[in-house]
Amino acid sequence: MAGWPALLLLLSVTVTVAADIISCDPNEYPYANICCQRCQAGHHISRHCSRNHGVGECAPCEHNTFMAHASDKTECFPCVQCRDDQEIVAECTMTSDRRCQCKRGSFYYQEIVAECTMTSDRRCQCKRGSFYCDSADCVENCFRCSRCPKNRVIRYPCNATADTVCGEANPESGLQRLFVKVFRPPDYRSILSISDEAARARALNEHLSTRSYVQGYSLSQADVDVFRQLSAPPADSRLFHVARWFRHIEALLGGPCDKGEPCGLRASKGRRVQPQWSPPAGTQPCKLRLYNSLTRNKVLSSQNTILNWVVTGSYISFDILRRVLKDYFKFDVFYCMNITDIDDKIIKRARQNYLFEQYRERKPQAEQLLADVCAALKPFSIKLSETTDPDKKQMLERIQHAVKLATEPLEKAVQSKLPGEEVNSRVEVLLEEAKDLLSDWLDSTFGSEVTDNSIFSKLPKFWEAEFHKDMEALNVLPPDVLTRVSEYVPEIVNFVQKIMDNGYGYASNGSVYFDTVKFASSEKHSYGKLVPEAVGDQKALQEGEGDLSISADRLSEKRSPSDFALWKASKPGEPSWPCPWGKGRPGWHIECSAMAGTLLGASMDIHGGGFDLRFPHHDNELAQSEAYFENDCWVRYFLHTGHLTIAGCKMSKSLKNFITIKDALKKHSARQLRLAFLMHSWKDTLDYSSNTMESALQYEKFMNEFFLNVKDILRAPVDITGQFEKWEEEEAELNKNFYDKKMAVHEALCDNVDTRTVMEEMRALVSQCNLYMATRKAARRRPNRALLENIALYLTHMLKIFGAIEEESTLGFPVGGPGTSLNLEATVMPYLQVLSEFREGVRKIAREKKVPEVLQLSDALRDDVLPELGVRFEDHEGLPTVVKLVDRDTLLKEREEKKRVEEEKRKKKEEAARKKQEQEAAKLAKMKIPPSEMFLSESDKYSKFDENGLPTHDTEGKELSKGQTKKLKKLFEVQEKLYKEYLQMVQNGSFQ
Ligand SMILES: *[C@@H]1O[C@H](CO)[C@@H](O)[C@H](O)[C@H]1NC(C)=O
Ligand SMILES: *[C@@H]1O[C@H](CO)[C@@H](O)[C@H](O)[C@H]1NC(C)=O
Repeated sequence: MAGWPALLLLLSVTVTVAADIISCDPNEYPYANICCQRCQAGHHISRHCSRNHGVGECAPCEHNTFMAHASDKTECFPCVQCRDDQEIVAECTMTSDRRCQCKRGSFYYQEIVAECTMTSDRRCQCKRGSFYCDSADCVENCFRCSRCPKNRVIRYPCNATADTVCGEANPESGLQRLFVKVFRPPDYRSILSISDEAARARALNEHLSTRSYVQGYSLSQADVDVFRQLSAPPADSRLFHVARWFRHIEALLGGPCDKGEPCGLRASKGRRVQPQWSPPAGTQPCKLRLYNSLTRNKVLSSQNTILNWVVTGSYISFDILRRVLKDYFKFDVFYCMNITDIDDKIIKRARQNYLFEQYRERKPQAEQLLADVCAALKPFSIKLSETTDPDKKQMLERIQHAVKLATEPLEKAVQSKLPGEEVNSRVEVLLEEAKDLLSDWLDSTFGSEVTDNSIFSKLPKFWEAEFHKDMEALNVLPPDVLTRVSEYVPEIVNFVQKIMDNGYGYASNGSVYFDTVKFASSEKHSYGKLVPEAVGDQKALQEGEGDLSISADRLSEKRSPSDFALWKASKPGEPSWPCPWGKGRPGWHIECSAMAGTLLGASMDIHGGGFDLRFPHHDNELAQSEAYFENDCWVRYFLHTGHLTIAGCKMSKSLKNFITIKDALKKHSARQLRLAFLMHSWKDTLDYSSNTMESALQYEKFMNEFFLNVKDILRAPVDITGQFEKWEEEEAELNKNFYDKKMAVHEALCDNVDTRTVMEEMRALVSQCNLYMATRKAARRRPNRALLENIALYLTHMLKIFGAIEEESTLGFPVGGPGTSLNLEATVMPYLQVLSEFREGVRKIAREKKVPEVLQLSDALRDDVLPELGVRFEDHEGLPTVVKLVDRDTLLKEREEKKRVEEEKRKKKEEAARKKQEQEAAKLAKMKIPPSEMFLSESDKYSKFDENGLPTHDTEGKELSKGQTKKLKKLFEVQEKLYKEYLQMVQNGSFQ
């Protein structure tokens, strides 16, 4: 594509608009120092005027020419000629040009801006950076926009219909120069004149992309000349047209010439030596660039093939990144994942669960429970009144309300001494509703008495098992190594000790803190590498220290408020491990550092996590690890994924708007969830909402229909040679698009693994395929199976890389050799194919012999029987039935929808028929009245009638006016006619 500027060797036409010497009226033009009147639209000037403000002679435009406005032109413009792939929208008239548009299905080189719907045609326009050229000279519809040279400025920017118009940077007054490029279709001569070989190859590629050099291509002298200028096929894989053309000619001519030796056909040349051979030079694909939070820009990825990677959250996003790096870019990835099984939140939650379960097991009596709930409500309402965060406040109020609602029935039951059973069930309800409240209260009252360490491992074990199940259900690949904090306590103790030995940590009251001031002032280090602007943010720091660790005495142990705990002395009711400083437990940030340090050493390639972990968590991790290793490169790439929000709100456990993975998987499949992630940039916030999921669902459906259509095409019986059909323009075109899309996908993946663009490119590729298939179908021709199969396989491959298509075989060779595993498609398709063909045969006969029962039966097979089995038959007029395996639920839903639409149609039809009948009945009733009787019943208007039944006097006895009588007479005559018709009908017997 970059070849256009060189290829178009454009004429620079300088249009000079000189300042007018004399000024004429708008409807006049200057001619030989006088003003002449213009000719009206549809005419040209055949003779100029000879005196000022005079009229010359005008002549009408000849056939096939036009003039749109009043003008001073001596000739009319020729009308545009529509090309073969265009049709005429409006004919040329004397005042307007002919208008052409692409024939249906031939939107060559254009991009679809709006898809075809039932009520509107597909709309296309030239892709960005190109414009539509409608002159007869242009061989393609869309051309690449020109750029203005350095010394000129854009006067009119390129748009969908016109190329860029450049102008001078500083037009002198009165004299404005515009530079308009005139298009010439590219030809070999212009290509030959390009001296730079690379530019020539690009130009050639562009030219060949418009030519069919594959089928029936015969060489011209120009072909040979250009071929001789090239030393080898181009190395750049984008120039595949040239590569193919080159090979084609090479096969005929036998390689580019040796110097000085004339080139002839191979047959005529008795070669003794092997011709020189040059390997294709390695192509230079783009390099992967990832957004690194440490540099805040996209930097070139390291050249190492082994990536050590530690990940702490955002599991689907990182699974996608990992798969792309591993399976697409072919890095050897070593992937570590942590399990946090000791931290303040877990300790508190475990203790609360334990205390609450114990309380429940003791089976509290109703009176006891009511008293305890009452006691628990006191601290709770204090907490409620102190809470300022509106969301949190609302959540607490909800709990309080629910508890009150459950308390009252129990109180009543106790007062009115209801039977024990009834009281017990109300006790259970209150226990459930007051769980959070009671747990909090029990913990603050008895928490410090919990001593057994195993209580603190039960909850995380359960939680970890659930986590693994969720990850498997989401098709997230398991890590290469998994580290649990509880298993790394000795390493953590050593890690802390070494930091102290290096002078960056100090013990205080049984805890150990990291000395941020010392670290920051050290020459070798810097503190807050990720978010320097957040250093000193006390709120963030305290959140990082944990719920159980922000008491005033703890804060006073630190030398500086920015210091953070490496090791925390355990208080009563907290698990503890022995260490040189007294019994305690690891601080939050230390876990990753110690575990990663143990496994990966002094430096890792990638550290990933959620965006909100940047400060203080990751900055503190960095500081303590670099303090341990005394280096400045613990992490090379910090990748931070965007937030996940739920319908626009930040997901938060404390707000209880937390959607569990299980909840999400109840509503949508793992693939649909993953598609939603793929359709976003991993760095951006992903909003889990019905809109987001709707687009993912539509994407899945769009792709799936394509795969099913291709499968159907591939199943059509054909002999082996028929699998390779001759390529026409359309195939070459689609193939070119296919390679362009592959390149675009590659570039998007290089650009910070931009899966969003990738998904768009893949969708566009499928749109192009659909267009191609539709064109073929319209022409009653089979689409090319090999080409469509290639594209479908490529898309499958990419979706597999993204984890959106599950790998079939799990480990090693499939057991029992090929064909023995149960593959539904391979098993049932042959039978379905036979059934479908049989049905078509039967339908054909039934239509010819007019046996509607058989047609009904085969409709019922399609609409009722097969959907239950997960099979869809699609009938297409005049073409073989398309067979698709779709899941049953989808098909049943489709059927419901179809029924609903039909029912609606039926109702509308009935309604219309009823109305028509009513109208006819009314008309008939009217017809039946003899004209002589028609006014007699209107006694509220008239009092006397003549012998024909025409009224003569109104109710007041006044004689009717002439005008009135005339009107009535007219009505009478109309009725007379109607009545006659009626009598006629009765006579004919067409009416009972
Ligand atoms: C495109 O630009 C040309 C001028 O270069 C202008 O005359 C024409 O109206 C523009 N068309 C559209 C669709 O904007
Ligand atoms: C891994 O560690 C991070 C913090 O370092 C934590 O937020 C996350 O929950 C941990 N992952 C698991 C699965 O426990």
